[in-house]
Amino acid sequence: MTSHNANELNIIDDGNGGDGGSRTIRIGILGTGAMAAALGGAWVRAGHEVMVGGRDAAAAARTAAGIGAAGYGSPAEAARYGEAVLVAVPADVAPRLAEELAADLAGRTVLDCTVPMAPAADGPALTTLGGTDSVAVRLAAAAPDAQVVKVFGILHESIWTLPRPAFEGAPLAVPFCTDTPHATALATELITSMGCAPQFCGGLHRAALLEATAVFAIGVWWSGGETRHAFPAPALAPGAVDDAP
Ligand SMILES: NC(=O)c1ccc[n+]([C@@H]2O[C@H](COP(=O)([O-])OP(=O)(O)OC[C@H]3O[C@@H](n4cnc5c(N)ncnc54)[C@H](OP(=O)(O)O)[C@@H]3O)[C@@H](O)[C@H]2O)c1
Repeated sequence: MTSHNANELNIIDDGNGGDGGSRTIRIGILGTGAMAAALGGAWVRAGHEVMVGGRDAAAAARTAAGIGAAGYGSPAEAARYGEAVLVAVPADVAPRLAEELAADLAGRTVLDCTVPMAPAADGPALTTLGGTDSVAVRLAAAAPDAQVVKVFGILHESIWTLPRPAFEGAPLAVPFCTDTPHATALATELITSMGCAPQFCGGLHRAALLEATAVFAIGVWWSGGETRHAFPAPALAPGAVDDAP
């Protein structure tokens, strides 16, 4: 593992992406690809300490250097490093990796951004059973002493390269599902530090809804559509009434 001390970190201040008022969180990343770089970069800008963990040390080093991470190492080293650990590997790989790393992930908050998706004749399809089955639930079963959060999976990685992403005058809402108060608090803190608005959406049994939403959105984008055009706020309709239960 290569790492630098905190004084050498590329910590940002206000105006460069973070909220400027949050504490530094140590985050390990499993994976060295597009999501590792995009989210890892957002967290470095927000002042957090990131370790990139990959099975290919050269790729981990490249990704870490590209985002100004605190260091890089193996997946096990990244899992042990983080108070939070991002799973940024293919969905079909993630549960097996979590099982291999279960001891390293114990006590950690595991951030699962995976999208269980495969091409099908009429658009991408879920590769889980849906319902209450999800990669997130499978991760929780594979690493039972970790606290899993389903989060960050419904958007393309490019969004996370934007400092303080905001659209139509509002900070980006980031929905997440998890079961424990500790993981809820950490996800809330992390999302807020990125300049975004945390949106708790219930327990992990609801993670399948987020995974299906991601697959649905990708299908819309692949067909040339824009999901944002399909979800205007009801309040924009004249005479709208609040029909929330
Ligand atoms: N890209 C997006 O816009 C986006 C958006 C939302 C969610 N996601 C989800 O985020 C996850 C990562 O996507 P990505 O776009 O970052 O993928 P990616 O660029 O292809 O990177 C995948 C990473 O997973 C690693 N990996 C693959 N198999 C592995 C194994 N058996 N053990 C350890 N590491 C392994 C790869 O390492 P090697 O290089 O060694 O193969 C690579 O570092 C996926 O689940 C995806 O569905 C992606």
